[in-house]
Amino acid sequence: MSKEVQIIIDGKTFHFPVIEGSEGEKAIDIAKLRDLTGYITLDTGYKNTGATKSAITFLDGEQGVLRYRGYPIEQLASKASFLEVSYLLIYGELPTLAQLENFKIRIQKHTNLHEDIKKVFDGFPSSAHPMGVLSSAVSSLTAYYPGSIDPNASEDEIDLTIVRLMAKLPTIAAWSYRNSKGMPLMYPKPKLGYCENFLYMMFAQPNEDFDIDPVVAEALNTLLILHADHEQNCSTSTVRIVGSAHASLYSSIAAGINALWGPLHGGANQEVIEMLDQIKSDGGDTQKWIAKAKDKNDPFRLMGFGHRVYKNFDPRAKIIKKACDDILSKLGVNDPVLEIAKELEQAALNDPYFVERKLYPNVDFYSGIIYRALGLKSDLFTVMFALGRLPGWIAQWKELRDAKEPIGRPRQIYTGHTTREYIPIEKRK
Ligand code: SDX
Repeated sequence: MSKEVQIIIDGKTFHFPVIEGSEGEKAIDIAKLRDLTGYITLDTGYKNTGATKSAITFLDGEQGVLRYRGYPIEQLASKASFLEVSYLLIYGELPTLAQLENFKIRIQKHTNLHEDIKKVFDGFPSSAHPMGVLSSAVSSLTAYYPGSIDPNASEDEIDLTIVRLMAKLPTIAAWSYRNSKGMPLMYPKPKLGYCENFLYMMFAQPNEDFDIDPVVAEALNTLLILHADHEQNCSTSTVRIVGSAHASLYSSIAAGINALWGPLHGGANQEVIEMLDQIKSDGGDTQKWIAKAKDKNDPFRLMGFGHRVYKNFDPRAKIIKKACDDILSKLGVNDPVLEIAKELEQAALNDPYFVERKLYPNVDFYSGIIYRALGLKSDLFTVMFALGRLPGWIAQWKELRDAKEPIGRPRQIYTGHTTREYIPIEKRK
């Protein structure tokens, strides 16, 4: 492999180093491009631009490969617990039994919220979308833990902030949901386990026994693992750029939650279930909707299909599709939209429009069907995505800070007016 590339500009040759990652990915290091040539690059949407070097997650879009710290997603999803995977992403290695136990105990200590946070929930109308409430409540943690704002906070302080956020996000999500429904808040029972405690806070009723279905808890564990990280996606890039300004972890994660909310990103899981319901109520004619998705004059897109990086099956979608069948049959749930989803997938995978564009089901295509079977309303689906993605966001924020990366500040090519004189208002036409 050549260790450099040459760019010839106006007859002058410039040399730029090539760097290669541990999986053989190659990049042209253009750190000195502008200083040497006066040129910048332009890559709207960063489709060809690496923002950083990272050791957290590797994905190969052509092969449909996804690994967290080198471990294949298929193995982690079937063998690990979400807290184990969170520890792996954040600290770099699978925990020993003692390390995992200590991580669990530290998280269990911090699941409660300051009572005043309820005022954040009360400040929203019950019709508010839970993602807006979630990002506001996470941002409000800077008020209760001002030490988290210090850019020179000690490693211990930063680690405490990490543990607090891992512990409190499920409580924030559950309390904001119950508050929006006028339901009494269920205080955490952390001894139950991470997923089980969330289910308890979401669905238990005061003074009643609450039996946690192990099928539901296991399904949640798998879904959270599958969403835990995905290298430099839109919301993670948001977390990193906010973190690069030395903003607190809480502020950076609140920004990531808002980016994830977008319907082209994590908000797609809610869009998919609403799309499937729409197709069902329209008579279930999947060919009609495939045609709409292909029609450039029709704004309809097949939500849950396509991906910036995966040009093969999203490995997470494969696992979720199989889990869909297993979980719905174990729960005795028959959701007719599952068949519609499978028909859409088959139709699309045999249609040249989708095949030529390498559009496959992504992580969002089947996940909502499981969330609904677990008893969650569709406006909570992206909240579930955020709960899963939290350790990945934290790991990426920590990696950027540990690497002392500079503040992110992209350049631009200006295309507006060239210089012109101010015209007094009385002379303007
Ligand atoms: C996530 O980046 C990550 O890793 C994200 C994520 C993660 O874990 O963090 O994986 C989570 O965000 C998954 C994606 C969820 N979004 C959706 O399902 C929304 C529907 N999908 C699309 O809008 C789209 O596929 C994107 C946004 C996912 C990717 O968009 P790109 O890479 O910018 O591609 P594009 O929009 O330029 O599309 C290329 C072509 C276009 O057609 P042409 O102009 O070449 O004729 O494919 C078409 C698009 O019109 N196309 C679709 C389509 N997706 C792309 N046509 C119909 N239906 C679709 N879903």
